[in-house]
Amino acid sequence: MEFLELKNLTKIYQKDIVAIDNINLTIHDGEFLVLLGPSGCGKTTTMRMIAGLEEVTKGDIILEGKRINDLRPKDRGVSMIFQSYAIWPHMTVFENIAYALKLKKMDKAVIKEKVLEVAKKASIIDYINRYPTQLSGGQRQRVAVARAMAVEPKLFLMDEPLSNLDAKLRVSMRTDLKEVHNELGATSIFVTHDQAEAMSLADRIVVMNTGTIEQIGSPNDIYHDSRTMFVANFIGSPSTNFIDVEIIEKGGKYFAKNDAFIFELDSKFNEGISKYIGEIVVLGVRPENFALVSNDNEKLFDLDVILIEPQGSHSIVVGKLLGKQMKIVTSKVFDLNSKGNMKVKIDGNYFIFDKNSEKRIY
Ligand SMILES: Nc1ncnc2c1ncn2[C@@H]1O[C@H](COP(=O)(O)OP(=O)(O)O)[C@@H](O)[C@H]1O
Ligand SMILES: [Mg+2]
Repeated sequence: MEFLELKNLTKIYQKDIVAIDNINLTIHDGEFLVLLGPSGCGKTTTMRMIAGLEEVTKGDIILEGKRINDLRPKDRGVSMIFQSYAIWPHMTVFENIAYALKLKKMDKAVIKEKVLEVAKKASIIDYINRYPTQLSGGQRQRVAVARAMAVEPKLFLMDEPLSNLDAKLRVSMRTDLKEVHNELGATSIFVTHDQAEAMSLADRIVVMNTGTIEQIGSPNDIYHDSRTMFVANFIGSPSTNFIDVEIIEKGGKYFAKNDAFIFELDSKFNEGISKYIGEIVVLGVRPENFALVSNDNEKLFDLDVILIEPQGSHSIVVGKLLGKQMKIVTSKVFDLNSKGNMKVKIDGNYFIFDKNSEKRIY
């Protein structure tokens, strides 16, 4: 039995706003699943339906084998944390965490023990008697996490819980959240529009686009085996370079050609590419899969370099090819003002996409 299943789940707002369009998704017990996608793709809607805060238009939500569509939020065993951490300003940290337990009419001593336990796990035990105004944003967010944890939910939903924090705190809270998850073993669904956050937290990532699922996989799958242009573009920073090429065939071999270069495609593409002869397809190359070379024999094309973005551990070379911007990641260190032509080759994996469907050609 799967822990949670979304079956043909659909949400239509106001008769014709299709927020979620017939998605199917299975979540394993103990998993940390991340819903990733741009603003408006339906992440919050999905979470709210699971939590019972939004009516389902069509489809089923099945938790531990039981259809929960019609259960009230409080009967689902689901806890949700929102972007704006709603902790009560007039209660101390202790009271905030204890609140839901009191509602459950738990014994006072048991409540105290429980609160102290989760406060320790969330590293807020030192502030247990403070009010929210006496806490930093990160500490308040931990209180929200601790409060949700205290009720021991079967399922823990987090909707962009880190997005109100500054950049540095986001990164450290990320690690903390993952630790808390590992410690508690609660199944978690985490929503973000930040691909780096998704990559570092997820067991599996669900990439969403306008109410549909583009791809589901481990962070490495999604990155190295992106199935669509949308995924190749959305995941990774800088994102994948897309270059239009024509497919030509010569003596049983296939080549990708444009006005700047021609190169022979790996034979693994032979079968998929044969029906594209004479057509334009899209070559997708991640920035680190280009290499700078010094030798004319090795180069695939000259890149007209516009500027260098130093990143300390590596550099991003920004240039133009056939009028389009391209980014290359290299371990070389450059003078900031380096400009002019640099010789470039493909050195590693690349994708080929159908220009119309934007899906991978294998
Ligand atoms: N209460 C609502 N009424 C009408 N449309 C809504 C409502 N809530 C969300 N939407 C629409 O549904 C789509 C998905 O929204 P949402 O789930 O909030 O996306 P995300 O969380 O990925 O940013 C958007 O087009 C949004 O405008
Ligand atoms: Mg949202």
